[in-house]
Amino acid sequence: MTHTFRPAAAADAQTLAAIDASVNIHPWSEAQFAAACTASEGNLSWALVAEEKAVVVGFAVVSLVLDEATLLSIAVDPQRQRRGLGRALLLAALARAQSEGALRCLLEVRESNTAARVLYTASGFTLDGVRKNYYPCGDTREDALLMSKSLKGTANECA
Ligand SMILES: CC(C)(COP(=O)(O)OP(=O)(O)OC[C@H]1O[C@@H](n2cnc3c(N)ncnc32)[C@H](O)[C@@H]1OP(=O)(O)O)[C@@H](O)C(=O)NCCC(=O)NCCS
Repeated sequence: MTHTFRPAAAADAQTLAAIDASVNIHPWSEAQFAAACTASEGNLSWALVAEEKAVVVGFAVVSLVLDEATLLSIAVDPQRQRRGLGRALLLAALARAQSEGALRCLLEVRESNTAARVLYTASGFTLDGVRKNYYPCGDTREDALLMSKSLKGTANECA
C-alpha cells in the first residue's frame, strides 16, 4: 500500500497516542505528543506521520539540538507492521534531521525489543553503550541500549 509522510500537527496527538498505546507498555500521553508536535519557540522536537489513504498509520518523533538528533519515539500500527513502513519512516525522519543540520542521530532501545534493534542495526545504527536497569519492566528493570548513526555525508532517502 502506498504511504505518504507529512509533519505532524497538534491535532494528530490523540491518534499518535492511540497508536503508541497499542504497541508500547509505557506509552506517551496525548499531552506529550501534543507538546512534541506543536511548533513554538524553544520546542526542539518534531514528528513525522505516515499515512495510508489519509489514515495515520505510524509516526516518528525526533528532537534536534544543534547538530545532534535524537529519535525519541517511532511506532507503526500493529496491523501494518512488517511491510516496510518502519524503515521508511526512520529514513524519512533521518533525512529531515539531516536537512536541518544533524550530523548524528542517537536513540535508546529496550534490550528485549528485537524488532526495533534489527531495524536500527539494518539502518546503520551501531551500539555505543548500555544503560543498566534503565526501563521499568514489570517488577524489575531492563537495560537500555544506546545506539547512534553518523549522518555525515550519507544519503537517507525516503523509500
Ligand atoms: C519497530 C517498528 C517501528 C518497525 O516497524 P515495521 O513497519 O514493522 O518495520 P519494517 O516493516 O520497516 O521492518 C524493517 C526491518 O526491521 C526488522 N524487523 C521489523 N520487525 C521485526 C520483528 N518483529 N522481528 C525481527 N525483525 C524485525 C526487519 O529486519 C525488517 O526488515 P524485513 O521485513 O525486510 O526483514 C515496529 O515494530 C513498532 O512499531 N514497534 C513498536 C514500537 C517500538 O518498539 N518502537 C521502537 C522504540 S525504540
